[in-house]
Amino acid sequence: MQNRLLNLKNQAIALIKDIHTSKELEELRMSLLGRRGKFNDLLKELPKLRVEERQPVGRMANEVKQTLNQLIQEKQLQLNQVGPSNKFFDLTFPGKLPAIGHLHPISQAIEEITHIFERIGFTRVRYPEIDWDWYVFETLNMPEDHPARDEWETIFIDTPPHPTKGKLVLTTHTSNGQVREMERVKTPPIRMLNLGKCYRRQQDATHTVMFHQFEGLVVDKHINIPHLKGTLDYFGREFFGKGIKSRIRPFNFRFTEPSFEVDFTCTNCRGRGCRFCKSGWVEVGGAGMVHPDVLRAGKIDPTKYSGFAFGWGVERVLRLKPGLNIADIRILYNSNVKFLKQF
Ligand code: PHE
Repeated sequence: MQNRLLNLKNQAIALIKDIHTSKELEELRMSLLGRRGKFNDLLKELPKLRVEERQPVGRMANEVKQTLNQLIQEKQLQLNQVGPSNKFFDLTFPGKLPAIGHLHPISQAIEEITHIFERIGFTRVRYPEIDWDWYVFETLNMPEDHPARDEWETIFIDTPPHPTKGKLVLTTHTSNGQVREMERVKTPPIRMLNLGKCYRRQQDATHTVMFHQFEGLVVDKHINIPHLKGTLDYFGREFFGKGIKSRIRPFNFRFTEPSFEVDFTCTNCRGRGCRFCKSGWVEVGGAGMVHPDVLRAGKIDPTKYSGFAFGWGVERVLRLKPGLNIADIRILYNSNVKFLKQF
């Protein structure tokens, strides 16, 4: 019986050690020291012992009971100390770092583009994302029903038109900022970077319905094509890296004259010509010398001032960054963390 008492004590010590809540502790106490607990079961055998054995065994049983009570009490104190969850809390254990995110690749590109133009004196502005037909088309030499508008796949807002400014549209390009900026600044010089969201009714590997454009507009005395070309080359160098040049090809926009399409050296083959670009050049967007009609619409005298403008997609230039080669730009907007984490 002495052995069994000792076993009970050792077992209890081990069990108490593993306990984490008061509830578990109480259950253990009942199963050990309760009326129908293991301890009482053992005591029931006391009368069966020989008379001379009963006293020492009885004394030992008392000691065991006392020890167990004491251990349970101590455990209860310890559980009370470690807070409401009653879980043991090791203050010295290194913490878990929360997942830390970062700016979306498009936001990063926007910041980078903004800084590049800031360094040569362009001021970043924002104009309405939903704007009047007047600023998006009319003042840009595209009156209603002009076929040139078709290129812009416009989404119109179904509200009553403005008496003089016409319908509301989701801006199809950032060129709506041109006349707005002329109205804001009034007298040149103007060095504007208008960067914002644009919308067109098309969606495929290289187009998303919502995308971002940035528009540069410079108006001052004696502004000419080399100023435009120099600015484009500067952007190519800064954004894509050394050795990347721009090329302008004749084109037609209603709001610039002459107009150009702008290409940059392909960042994949660095101009040698590859599967991706074929010619060594990749087209990114449009540019030109501001049309006198547009200056006039912005109340600027085209006999005194001239200007250049350019505009194209943030997604466009981001996908051409060396080493990126994003085949389908829709991946930028499907919130796939595995993709986004790489930036
Ligand atoms: N707004 C034109 C487009 O969206 C680009 C452009 C901007 C062209 C400025 C000329 C001057 O395609």
